[in-house]
Amino acid sequence: MVKNEFPRIIVRRGAPLSGSVQVPGAKNSVLKLMAATLLAEGDFVFTNVPSITDVHKMAETLSALGVSSEWLGPHELKLTNSGNITPEVPFERLDKMRASINVLGPLLSHYGSARINWPGGDDFGGRPIDLHIAGLQKMGATVEESLYDIFAFADRLKGTNIELALPSVGATENLLTAAVYARGVTVIDNAAREPEVQDLCNMLVAMGADIEGIGTSRLVIHGCERGSLSGTRHSVVADRVQAATYMAAVAVAGGDITVRSARTEHMEALFNLYARMGVAITPQRDGVRVTSHERLRAVDVITEPYPGIATDYKPLLVAMLCVSRGEGTVTETLFPGRFKYIEEFRRLGASIAIYGNKALVRPVYELIGNDVHVPDIRAGAALVVAGLAASGETVVHNIHHIDRGYDDLVGKLSGLGADVIRA
Ligand code: EPU
Repeated sequence: MVKNEFPRIIVRRGAPLSGSVQVPGAKNSVLKLMAATLLAEGDFVFTNVPSITDVHKMAETLSALGVSSEWLGPHELKLTNSGNITPEVPFERLDKMRASINVLGPLLSHYGSARINWPGGDDFGGRPIDLHIAGLQKMGATVEESLYDIFAFADRLKGTNIELALPSVGATENLLTAAVYARGVTVIDNAAREPEVQDLCNMLVAMGADIEGIGTSRLVIHGCERGSLSGTRHSVVADRVQAATYMAAVAVAGGDITVRSARTEHMEALFNLYARMGVAITPQRDGVRVTSHERLRAVDVITEPYPGIATDYKPLLVAMLCVSRGEGTVTETLFPGRFKYIEEFRRLGASIAIYGNKALVRPVYELIGNDVHVPDIRAGAALVVAGLAASGETVVHNIHHIDRGYDDLVGKLSGLGADVIRA
């Protein structure tokens, strides 16, 4: 068979879902953990690594900087920092990932300088990095921004007090990794508390860093001697957005599934919300059982930093609201431009109106399969989920976005009995 150069995902409504699905490690953790290997010479072994294209891209970027990688198994990745690091990301590595900015903090604190490309990532409108830069400047770095790249240098960073105007995930991570080798104590107030930030803190501690307040909005980092951290072995925290995706799938398609390795303590707000919508959730020893047998009930939702309802869940919630009884709203507080995909839901017959940063989703008799184009990772998964509830055939195009963050979405859904193929 000829391989399709532009593969699509084709979804049809089918029988209720059943069985169990394994949640892999989180994209938004593993990419940052990989960047942190720039902080220490030695070997790092990561387990529970998702097989997604962003991991491969990050490995390539690290390789250009001097960190080599080797797959020890399908989900086990070894990175080796032999100390021969060039702290400049080559310009031709056009970085499409947001997480590419995470090499800035480690390079600057360990090697005294960093030249990186402007970070990419999903297009949600403006995605500034002013908080990253202002924090590094407060730690004594000189930062030069040009049209092409960002160049930062500092003889040795110094500890200081930084209060973030917003609990930015990326800025917290960059400042954290910069602070581990700073002279003295760095305090980050209004720090992001996401489980992925905690995962990075835990790995840094295992490498020898001294961090207090992990999981709180005040991180206190006692800087240690440059180069004194060492390699480690680390299991990547489970991906709460992938877990939420399989839960949304059973919510709209109906059925009874187990989402294995979902970290229930990281998903409390979402579990409460799904329960209000009529999804039955029973935490188990290693994951969660999720059942859905009736039409969902609409709710009003506001996205917030952790521990609130994450912005990354939003497209899934829109998919669920499209097939719910009653009118529901989703208000976005983090990325006001994160509504591009609404047009694609409309192509499935959804009735959605946008008022500023709020989407009003009205009930429709049913969604109707159609061709849709994926604008970003999470919206892509949500369109596949919506297809499970649509009559006829939903053909999802531009699925390379989904591959950036989902570890075999099609295989996992078909393992639950969904009628979904990649062609
Ligand atoms: N912000 C600023 N200035 C900055 C940094 C952020 O104004 O210097 C603002 C942003 O514009 C936004 C808010 O702060 O309004 C939050 O942005 P944050 O920095 O927390 O987001 P991020 O680090 O760029 C990560 C995830 C996103 C996720 C957000 C929020 C990665 C690689 N990306 O982005 O994940 O939506 O946190 O939780 O970790 C995804 O996985 O699909 C994804 C987009």
